[in-house]
Amino acid sequence: MSNRTFTIIKPDSVRKGNFGKIVSRLEEQGFRILGLKKVALTQRQAEGFYAVHSERPFYKDLVSYMTSGPVYVAALQKEGAVASLRTAMGATDPKKADAGSIRAEFGESIEQNAIHGSDSDENAKNEIAFFFAESELSD
Ligand code: RTP
Ligand code: MG
Repeated sequence: MSNRTFTIIKPDSVRKGNFGKIVSRLEEQGFRILGLKKVALTQRQAEGFYAVHSERPFYKDLVSYMTSGPVYVAALQKEGAVASLRTAMGATDPKKADAGSIRAEFGESIEQNAIHGSDSDENAKNEIAFFFAESELSD
């Protein structure tokens, strides 16, 4: 099991000034930040990042949401990082997310749901590599 995962603090969070609060939560829960940057995703990057959803009805909207403003991308480290982040985030739809989870607190809708987290070790590795060179990461 890998101890790394990848997150995106999504455009709605950055717009509303919730970036710091969300990062605080993650640090409180024991995540270390190995690498962090603010980026404005290009259309091509957003399409590539969410390519697994390209046949889904919400894909076009998702790409335009993810390019609607800057985001923060981060590589995180913790034991059992992938599962731990998914729990910290809560369900995709903030209305269904556990009380106290990041999406319950900061998410707006099933689309504008504050934060992304990798769903497997393999995807975590690929998603980190999508944005960071290994030399940009340190604990
Ligand atoms: P993520 O990949 O961002 O961590 O979210 P997730 O695993 O909880 O959800 P996923 O099924 O992978 O969906 C990716 C993102 O697409 C948007 N979405 N919109 N309108 C809709 O029904 C809908 N469903 C999903 C959300 O931004 C979701 O996080
Ligand atoms: Mg997902």
